[in-house]
Amino acid sequence: MLRALLLENVHPAAVEILRDAGIEVETRSGALDEAELIETLADFQILGIRSKTQVTRHVLESVPGLLAVGTFSIGTNQIDLDAASSHGVAVFNAPFSNTRSVVELAVAEIIALTRRLAVRDKALHDGVWDKTAEGSHEVRGRTLGIIGYGNIGSQLSVLAENLGMNVVFYDTAEKLALGNARRVETLGELLEVADAVTIHVDGRAGNAGMFTGDMFARMKPGSIFLNLSRGFVVDVESLREHILSGHLSGAAVDVFPTEPKKRGDHFESPLRGLDNVILTPHVGGSTLEAQESIGHFVAKKLRDYFLTASTTLSVNLPNLQLEHTGVGRIALLHRNVPGVLAAVNQVFADHGANIEAQMLATRGDLGYVVTDISDVTQRGASKKLMAMDTTVRLRIRDAFERPEFPPGPAAG
Ligand SMILES: NC(=O)c1ccc[n+]([C@@H]2O[C@H](COP(=O)([O-])OP(=O)(O)OC[C@H]3O[C@@H](n4cnc5c(N)ncnc54)[C@H](O)[C@@H]3O)[C@@H](O)[C@H]2O)c1
Repeated sequence: MLRALLLENVHPAAVEILRDAGIEVETRSGALDEAELIETLADFQILGIRSKTQVTRHVLESVPGLLAVGTFSIGTNQIDLDAASSHGVAVFNAPFSNTRSVVELAVAEIIALTRRLAVRDKALHDGVWDKTAEGSHEVRGRTLGIIGYGNIGSQLSVLAENLGMNVVFYDTAEKLALGNARRVETLGELLEVADAVTIHVDGRAGNAGMFTGDMFARMKPGSIFLNLSRGFVVDVESLREHILSGHLSGAAVDVFPTEPKKRGDHFESPLRGLDNVILTPHVGGSTLEAQESIGHFVAKKLRDYFLTASTTLSVNLPNLQLEHTGVGRIALLHRNVPGVLAAVNQVFADHGANIEAQMLATRGDLGYVVTDISDVTQRGASKKLMAMDTTVRLRIRDAFERPEFPPGPAAG
């Protein structure tokens, strides 16, 4: 029986999905360090983690039986993806399970900043009755500028329009404009028209320091600024200067260039103590609903890889969406060099195997060919496939004996 180790309080929904698929599941509340992880994983084929457990090259080299890692989070920085690929370990994450949570926080903050709620709230807590309309606006009729129109940016666009806002967006990729949102060709154009600018770009290296002092200077006087994407995208010193000068009337920041490691740690930032600046500890996606949704999403990906060899949305392996057919199936992960498919099919032909279906996908250095053949193990092709110097991992499901995929050997 396959065994899964789920660390860091992964949502119970994930445990249920894996158990229903016949996988034995063990859960632990904390993270494990490298040595503990290597020792513990010897008996497991599937690992589930959140953001604290580091799956290093050393871990992946030391646990040859590991088949798949599910990160019950958006990011995958905690895993050495190159090492996972070269050892044939599939990695799955949850790229959009907390999108709605981030969007709702952004909506709340746009309204809160536009009404100067943080200032009113603080004054009243300090015992001052500051009843005034000064600086407070409705969001209806104002313009929201969204930088990065991906999962989060585009959903925010829809909700903002429902509030009566006009939406403009800037994205480096071609994107379908939803509703009445208007695409602008340059970032400068967006900055000049938006009353609220919000950043939702991804964490690619080129986005480090992308939002600089010049850009704050180009924003409309009295406008507001939000960053719920990545901390390293924004020059926070410049943001501070533009708040202090009054050029910007407020900001909401959820992500920071350096963030404390754990709950309760001290937090330092040039943005602390500023008027009408809402600071939140990277909780944009942190809701109970999002945790459950992530639990469902990642567990289903792991289950499907185990039952059908499907790699849909794997972050490191070639993606193939596969259905359960009831026929024997051979899933071969291999180095992506010319001639592998022909060599594989020659092995099948030599063993008199009749191929019922075959799919191939490649991604960088890896190729993934999945072949459906009845009566597959009896034909003895597996030894030849394992002996090919291009083989990374081979998994075989026998239609008659095993409905599921065992881990299969990884080539050394
Ligand atoms: N605060 C949180 O808790 C939280 C939670 C989830 C996601 N996030 C972050 O939110 C961001 C957006 O997430 P997503 O799921 O929408 O990502 P996504 O990949 O779906 O969308 C990102 C978009 O940004 C665009 N883009 C990239 N660089 C750009 C640039 N320099 N200028 C303009 N457009 C650019 C891309 O083309 C893409 O359309 C990510 O950085 C993610 O890490 C934060």
